[in-house]
Amino acid sequence: MNILVTGGAGFIGSHLADALLAEGHAVTIIDNLSSGTTEFLPENAEFIEADIRSRDALRFLADRRFDVIYHEAAQTMVPASINDPYHDADENIMGLLSLLEAARAGGVKKIIFSSSAAVYGDSEALPLTEDAEPRPASFYGLTKWMTERYLDLYRRLYGLDYTVLRYSNVYGPRQGAHGEGGVIYIFAKLLAEGAPLTIFGDGGQTRDFINVHDVVSANLAALTCGSGEICNVSTETELSLNTLAETMVRLSGKSVPVRHSEARAGDIYRSCLSHQKARRLLGWTPACDLSDGLAETISFFEKKKQ
Ligand SMILES: NC(=O)c1ccc[n+]([C@@H]2O[C@H](COP(=O)([O-])OP(=O)(O)OC[C@H]3O[C@@H](n4cnc5c(N)ncnc54)[C@H](O)[C@@H]3O)[C@@H](O)[C@H]2O)c1
Repeated sequence: MNILVTGGAGFIGSHLADALLAEGHAVTIIDNLSSGTTEFLPENAEFIEADIRSRDALRFLADRRFDVIYHEAAQTMVPASINDPYHDADENIMGLLSLLEAARAGGVKKIIFSSSAAVYGDSEALPLTEDAEPRPASFYGLTKWMTERYLDLYRRLYGLDYTVLRYSNVYGPRQGAHGEGGVIYIFAKLLAEGAPLTIFGDGGQTRDFINVHDVVSANLAALTCGSGEICNVSTETELSLNTLAETMVRLSGKSVPVRHSEARAGDIYRSCLSHQKARRLLGWTPACDLSDGLAETISFFEKKKQ
């Protein structure tokens, strides 16, 4: 297939582009390099350095007749969305609209969208299923949810198909400070420097950490499945930050202390997404082992430091 990946110079998009090329697809990447880097671009992908809000770039994309668009490009930081909701909406809503109009003009068949657990907000009914009422606690979560609604309306008005994938906390090599996932990246960088790890709060707070390679396999499955559907992409397993820190210190082979400091206001205590719908509709299950995934991530940041 002829496939466009927006944000393909970033963490998830670059892994996805690698996998699509390995499957024999033609891949074009559009990225403005605001948080991505040319270092991660696969050799065999065509690269267009442009902003998805640029009309010239999108006129060009409309002419290219892509079969499928993977939409990864976004303002991805929760605190930034709260500090500057205008910028968040400009990137995540106006960027989406430019892309949707180009997709419509260019006869694109399907958009596969990277949504987020941030759509749900804080909820105690874990693991969260896709029919839980969205109650975003940030503008980032709100623009992700609105994107899902736009996709649904474009499908009903113009027949442009979609699959929405709501990721839990994604981790793996190439993750950056700008991303949403955060803590594993931060711990891996600190371990590479031999610095102590700090946990905000008592460390009993949990997250559902999904390996980027599992996120990629869910995206590949969505090429042919999940028409007009929203699916969580998660491990459906809660891991406490205390266990995460202990495991990462052990895997790194370093003897660095783990400290606790005051809890941060606004942090969710527990987070876990059900993945039963993705199992059923996409025929997907997460396959990566946590220790292997953490070891690969630690080793990536260790090598990067050298
Ligand atoms: N990392 C996570 O844990 C996580 C969790 C849930 C959802 N997501 C979503 O997955 C997607 C990918 O996230 P990531 O972690 O790889 O982030 P990332 O910052 O590494 O990648 C985003 C890419 O988009 C590019 N970009 C941003 N704005 C752009 C614009 N206007 N025009 C063109 N390119 C632009 C950036 O340069 C970057 O390369 C995002 O939509 C994010 O919201 C990520």
